[in-house]
Amino acid sequence: RRHCEFISATVKKALLDAGKTIDDVDAVAVTFAPGLIGAVLVGVNFAKGLAYSAGKPLVPVHHLRGHIAALYLTHPELKPPFLCLVASGGHSHIVEVQDYTHYHILGHTVDDAAGEAFDKVARTLGLPYPGGPSVANAAKTGDPKAYRLPVPHVEGRYNVSFSGLKTAVLNLVNKAQMKGERVNVADMAASFQFRITDILAEKLLLAAQDTGAKQICIAGGVAANGLLRETLAAGAKKLGARLYLPELRLCGDNAAMVAAQGFYEYRAGNTAGLNLNGLATLGIDYL
Ligand code: KG4
Ligand code: ZN
Repeated sequence: RRHCEFISATVKKALLDAGKTIDDVDAVAVTFAPGLIGAVLVGVNFAKGLAYSAGKPLVPVHHLRGHIAALYLTHPELKPPFLCLVASGGHSHIVEVQDYTHYHILGHTVDDAAGEAFDKVARTLGLPYPGGPSVANAAKTGDPKAYRLPVPHVEGRYNVSFSGLKTAVLNLVNKAQMKGERVNVADMAASFQFRITDILAEKLLLAAQDTGAKQICIAGGVAANGLLRETLAAGAKKLGARLYLPELRLCGDNAAMVAAQGFYEYRAGNTAGLNLNGLATLGIDYL
């Protein structure tokens, strides 16, 4: 509902701020999958109307491809192929980006996404949403070695699993409560952040080592995590690979990344008709 109310004014303001009119635009790019379907459909239908009325091509963009394209905005010299960890509120993937519109998934989460784990642990600890920034903030004064959280066992060399980690935090919080005690929130936040970033970094670096990738990247909301960025910087150096990080304001969902990927999809001829539909789920390798 809120999306419906704001989308016209938002697009108008974007054009105004850019000092452009719709005539300066070559094509209309829109996120069509995956995502919460209500929000996705508002965007898709608005984009159809805009493209039709302005006589511009309509370019469907996959949300995770958009996250990866944030890297091209930050590092114009970066060119595929490269290896990328995409970690957001709904997805955690290790992907080989073969070129601007072709992807091969090496690994994925078998349960919760990394951002989702941050959000759930934050709620358990009484920290505000979104959990990523609030856990990272609480962790600043905590001891990452205070609580020994388990390393989950998971099938698949590049797969990850975070639901056990989330449950371990919940169990420790409940156990303390039953004894009339409380866990130290800063220590727990630091211990959780240490464990989850360690797992993500280890899997990405393992994939880099196996495939011999010399360019490694991260994208998605979780890519804003300072400890993850530091851990990967050290690991990439050891491997002799170059690490590319998206600038902080482009890690979380934004329209610039969708426009950037829209450029590459348009160039590859991936346009859509007015029968384009929104999809709640769709693999990044759909095309
Ligand atoms: O990509 P994104 O903005 O939206 C989705 O596509 O889901 O990612 C949002 C997720 C949330 O789960 C949020 O807690 C997490 O990214 N996040 C972080 C940080 N900033 C945002 N996770 C860890 N550390 C952060 N600094
Ligand atoms: Zn996202």
